[in-house]
Amino acid sequence: MESKKTKVGIIGCGTIGIQLARAIEKRFCERAELLALCDIDKDKAERLKAGSSLNPEILSIDELIDRCGLVIEAASVSVSYEVAQKALEQSKDVMIMSVGGILDGYEELFALARAKGGRIYLPSGAIAGLDAVKAASIAKINKATLITRKPPQGLAGAPYLAEKNIDLTGIKGETVIFEGRAREAIKGFPKNVNVCAALSLAGIGAEKTMVRIVTSPDYKANIHEIEVEGEFGKLLTRTENLPSPENPRTSLLASLSAIATLKNILDEVKIGT
Ligand SMILES: NC(=O)c1ccc[n+]([C@@H]2O[C@H](COP(=O)([O-])OP(=O)(O)OC[C@H]3O[C@@H](n4cnc5c(N)ncnc54)[C@H](O)[C@@H]3O)[C@@H](O)[C@H]2O)c1
Repeated sequence: MESKKTKVGIIGCGTIGIQLARAIEKRFCERAELLALCDIDKDKAERLKAGSSLNPEILSIDELIDRCGLVIEAASVSVSYEVAQKALEQSKDVMIMSVGGILDGYEELFALARAKGGRIYLPSGAIAGLDAVKAASIAKINKATLITRKPPQGLAGAPYLAEKNIDLTGIKGETVIFEGRAREAIKGFPKNVNVCAALSLAGIGAEKTMVRIVTSPDYKANIHEIEVEGEFGKLLTRTENLPSPENPRTSLLASLSAIATLKNILDEVKIGT
C-alpha cells in the first residue's frame, strides 16, 4: 500500500526555497509532494515552477495554507509571523526560516500550536549547537552569546547601518558593528542574524541572549560562534559558513539545515536532541 505523501507548500522562492524545492524533487519525492509555491515576486515563483518536474501550483499565502499540510516559510521576517499564525490556526505544521519575525509574540504562537495541534519547526540555520543548548536549558543557563562575523556584503542593507550612518565600504580591518541584546540585533539586522532568534528561543530568550556582529573586508566566510555557560558547564561552537552563491547574506548551511529539518519531519528515525 502506498503511504500518504506530505503536501508541502513553500512561501519564498529565493535561495532557501529553491534548495528545498530541489530536495523535495530529488530526495524526498516518495514521502513528500511539492504542492504549491508562493512569492511576492511572481516571476520567482514562475521560474522555480518552470525548473521543477513536480508542477506545483502558484498560490497566495492563504490558498497555499488551505491546501498544504506542511507550510514552509523562506521569505522574510515581515511575513513569517503571519504565516505561522495562519497555518497554526488551521492546525497545519509550519517551518519558519525567518525566525526573527516571530520573536515578538512567540508565546501566542506556541500556545496556538498547542491548542490547535499544529507543529512549529525552527531550523538551526547556520549555527551549530542548538541540540546542546536545548539540553542545557533543562537546567539553568547563565549566559548565551552569539558572535557573528560576516564580510561587509553579508551585512549590506541592514536597517541598523542606515540608522547609525555606518558606511561599510570604508571599513578597514576587523570592526565590531553591533553589540547588544538579541532582540535589538534582529531589529537592526533582520536578514542577517536569524540565528540569534533561534538561539534565544532554544536558550534564555531574546532579552538575555547577547549578540556581537563583526565585519572585515578580509572575511571570506560567515562565521558564527556560540558561547553558552550554565549548570551543565560551558559550550563553544563555531561554524565557518560559505555564503550561498546566489545570496551572500545566506550561508549555504542555512539551506542545508532547512532540508535536514524537512528530512527530520518526514523520517521515522530522529537523530539528535
Ligand atoms: N534561520 C536562519 O538561520 C536563516 C539563515 C538564512 C536566511 N534566513 C532567512 O530565511 C529567509 C529566506 O532566505 P533566502 O536566503 O532564501 O532569501 P532570498 O532573498 O534569497 O529569498 C526570499 C524570497 O522570498 C520572497 N519574499 C519576500 N517577502 C515575501 C513575502 N512577503 N511573501 C512572499 N514572498 C516573499 C522574495 O521575493 C524572495 O524570492 C530570509 O528571511 C532570511 O533572512 C534564515
